Amino acid sequence: MKNNNSKKKALEIRDLVKVYTDGNVRAVDGVSFTVHKGEIFSLLGPNGAGKTTTISIAATALDPTSGSIKVFGYDVVAARDEVRKHIGICPQEIVIYENLSIIENVMFYGKMYRIPRDELLQRASMLIRKVGLENKRDTMASKLSGGMKRRLNLIMALVSEPDLVFMDEPTAGLDPQTRRLIWEYIKGLKARGKTVLLTTHYMDEADELSDRVAIMDNGKIIALDSPFDLKRIHSTGDILEFKFKEAGAKVMEILERLNKESRFNKIQYIEEDNLFRVAITDVLDDLTGILNDMRDQGLHVSNMGMKSNTLENVFISLTGRSLRN
Ligand SMILES: Nc1ncnc2c1ncn2[C@@H]1O[C@H](COP(=O)(O)OP(=O)(O)OP(=O)(O)O)[C@@H](O)[C@H]1O
Ligand SMILES: [Mg+2]
Repeated sequence: MKNNNSKKKALEIRDLVKVYTDGNVRAVDGVSFTVHKGEIFSLLGPNGAGKTTTISIAATALDPTSGSIKVFGYDVVAARDEVRKHIGICPQEIVIYENLSIIENVMFYGKMYRIPRDELLQRASMLIRKVGLENKRDTMASKLSGGMKRRLNLIMALVSEPDLVFMDEPTAGLDPQTRRLIWEYIKGLKARGKTVLLTTHYMDEADELSDRVAIMDNGKIIALDSPFDLKRIHSTGDILEFKFKEAGAKVMEILERLNKESRFNKIQYIEEDNLFRVAITDVLDDLTGILNDMRDQGLHVSNMGMKSNTLENVFISLTGRSLRN
């Protein structure tokens, strides 16, 4: 059996706290985790969870209030320059030169790393091809679509071939096909031994890509495990969402009566949306039975939706809230 200590640490975060004095926000509130070399690790959480703050401190773009972060053993505050040699960052806010073309942007950025020109050109061309921007290679950035700019932003983080890549919402706003393309590229980085820390609020992205996921909420990590184990341990199963024509209190009473045989793992009423969530193991096995019973008890369903067992359900189960609302 492999000893955990034998795994090399790419990133080690201990008791990280960040308080923004402007507004007195405790954006990161005692976060600790380790990312192993060669791992794809995701921070998954809703808006304002503290993902960007965490990743920005790790990438030396922001100082912590307290706590420590090491990148390949180097402290991000005390050994900032050394850390920067090993990392690449794709920020959430797009940072490109609007009046340079795609290839010029990548070349300009690459020169800062003193990569020989021929090699740089080769890498830049390869990256541009990989993210499907070949036919826009000489187009000025100001004339690109939002999704194209995001792809350009991403490849600029990769041109220095860093061992540890930080990607803050790498596929936000991209169409499904382009998201797939980026996912494949990220998997390719891992295959070449690179380490990736990404943030996302897409549960399918975290599920598909990550070796491990830390679920963040309100500046804290509320769960950390492989996607498989997160679902196995924390999820209450599939979730059915209902709106009924009847009043909330009456519905709750009937649902609880129906639940005498404890067929539901959890019943939740979100009053402001007049929405009921019922968690069930393997819902498809008994969906008609459930609907028939509801009808027999005088309940009229006006709207229904289903969420199969996903990381989103893990988040709902842990916090009572949806990831995106
Ligand atoms: N420069 C800043 N000054 C003051 N408060 C800030 C600053 N940046 C972020 N915050 C606050 O810190 C908290 C965490 O923000 P952060 O950007 O880290 O969240 P996030 O998880 O990346 O969210 P999103 O999914 O929206 O990108 C939020 O409450 C935010 O308002
Ligand atoms: Mg963010």
